[in-house]
Order: sequence, then C-alpha cells, then structure tokens
Amino acid sequence: MRPKDLVTKIFLDSGDPGETREIIRLLGFLDGQTTNPTLISKNPASLQRFERGEKFSREEILDFYRQEVNKISALIPQGSVSIEVYADRSTTAGAMLQQGRFMFSWIPNAHIKFPSTEEGLRAAEQAVKQEVRVNMTLCFTQEQAAAVYGATKGAKKGEVFVSPFVGRLDDRGENGMDLISHILKMYREGDGHVEVLTASVRNLDHFLCALKLGSDIISAPFNVLKEWSEKGLLLPGDNYVYQPGSLKAISFKEIPLTHYWRDYNLHHELTDKGMERFSADWNALIR
Ligand code: E4P
Repeated sequence: MRPKDLVTKIFLDSGDPGETREIIRLLGFLDGQTTNPTLISKNPASLQRFERGEKFSREEILDFYRQEVNKISALIPQGSVSIEVYADRSTTAGAMLQQGRFMFSWIPNAHIKFPSTEEGLRAAEQAVKQEVRVNMTLCFTQEQAAAVYGATKGAKKGEVFVSPFVGRLDDRGENGMDLISHILKMYREGDGHVEVLTASVRNLDHFLCALKLGSDIISAPFNVLKEWSEKGLLLPGDNYVYQPGSLKAISFKEIPLTHYWRDYNLHHELTDKGMERFSADWNALIR
C-alpha cells in the first residue's frame, strides 16, 4: 500500500510489462512507468527474437513498442506511461513531433519523451500547444531544465515532466543528486507547471535522496523498487543524509526562468551520447 506520507509519485523504469505486474504486486500501487528505446530492446520478447536472429522491420518494431506500451497502460490506467521518440543527431523537430503525435494516440495516459535538445524542445513547444503531454529526457543541466520550463509555458501541471539523469552524472564522478536539488530550487521561482522526474536511478540511496528532496516523481528500475518493498517502503526521516562519497559537487547557478528558451545553453555531451546510445539500441533491432 502507498505510505500515507508519500507525496512523490513512484514510477517504474522498464520496458517489460511483466515487471510492471510484479512491482504492483510488491508495492501495492504504482503511479506510472517510463520506457526508452534501450529498455524496449531489453524486453524479454525482443531479446528472444534477437537471440533467434530475427530482426524487426520498421513497421514491426513500432507495432511491438505499441503492444508493450498498451499492456503497461492497461496495468496502470490511472498512471502515466512515457513513450520515447526515435531521435538521432539528424532528426528534426518536425519528425519528432510527427512520431510523438502518433505515439500519443496509442494509449490514453501517454507522456511523450523528447530529448532536451534544441530540436527536442522545438517539438515539445508545439506538442504542448496540441495537448500532447511531454517528458523531456536526457537532461543534465539546470540550463536545459530552464529551457524546458520556457518552451512549455502555458501548459498545466501534469502535462510536462523534465527528467534529469542522476546515475549517468554519477558515472562520470559528479554528484547527480545535486542537479535534482538545484532544479527543484530553481523551479520554486516558477509557476509549477513542470514536474521534476528523477531518472537514471541506480540504487536505493538515489531513491531515498530524491524522496527527501521532494522530487515530484521518481522513476526507478525494478531492482530498486523491489529493494524498497523489502525495506517496508521506508521513507527518509528527519535525520536522513545522502552520502555522495567521492562524487564531485555540482554548484547551483542563479538562472532566471524568464529568458526566451533558445537563449539558454542547451548543450551537454551526455545528452548527445544518450541520443547516440538510444538510437543505436533501437537500430540494432531493425533489419
Ligand atoms: C528514464 O526515463 C530514463 O530513460 C532512464 O532512467 C535512464 O536510466 P539509465 O541511465 O540507467 O539508462
């Protein structure tokens, strides 16, 4: 059962509906799920197919993604399910928007993931005007989060998520949890229309720290949510302190939310690398 003091929404980060079912059984509730091309490529059905040496056609892979997302959506009809567009270096905003609109029609509770790049933000700017809910992924800086805020102004709470990636910053020695704390602080100056979704969660400490910071949403992989259930869905108490160990602190920047979104520096090398990895994992499934 959902702990009565839990405000943060809890999502599962997975492309496997079997995991959705199991997490609902373990936690007794689930508020949503995030998927991405890498997670769909690791889905047991796509792995089996890959092992048999059978690849998908472009139509078949989209159809497969649609079927899996439909299964997930049916398990959490009250929740949100994030579906990610295909985007590589050359994908235009128009192409992302076209895919996003199509994917949004798959299920009634979709959020469409666009990358936090100029093209991704241009797509999101149009998407929210067309009432397509969005989840801006591969966010690694406060500037990118400020641009998400600016590009989606006018949207209502619940229509826009931003997903800062904690684990991938940790992987290169930076304290990813600092980014969550800084974006939440920066957004306090705003109108509250963008919800912070802590993503790339690797362990229970990330999860507990994000709860303590008051992240609007946390998306965690199966193992972390399972461990949380084994610990009795514990919540961080007043004495909880996150231990970043040797990770380098990321400093807070005073960034006004009032600039035109294209005036923020949108570049981060992990965003580029992330798009490369997602598109490579997706392309590996296609014949
Ligand atoms: C969620 O929306 C993200 O795609 C996911 O958390 C990425 O996690 P990873 O850095 O472990 O791949």
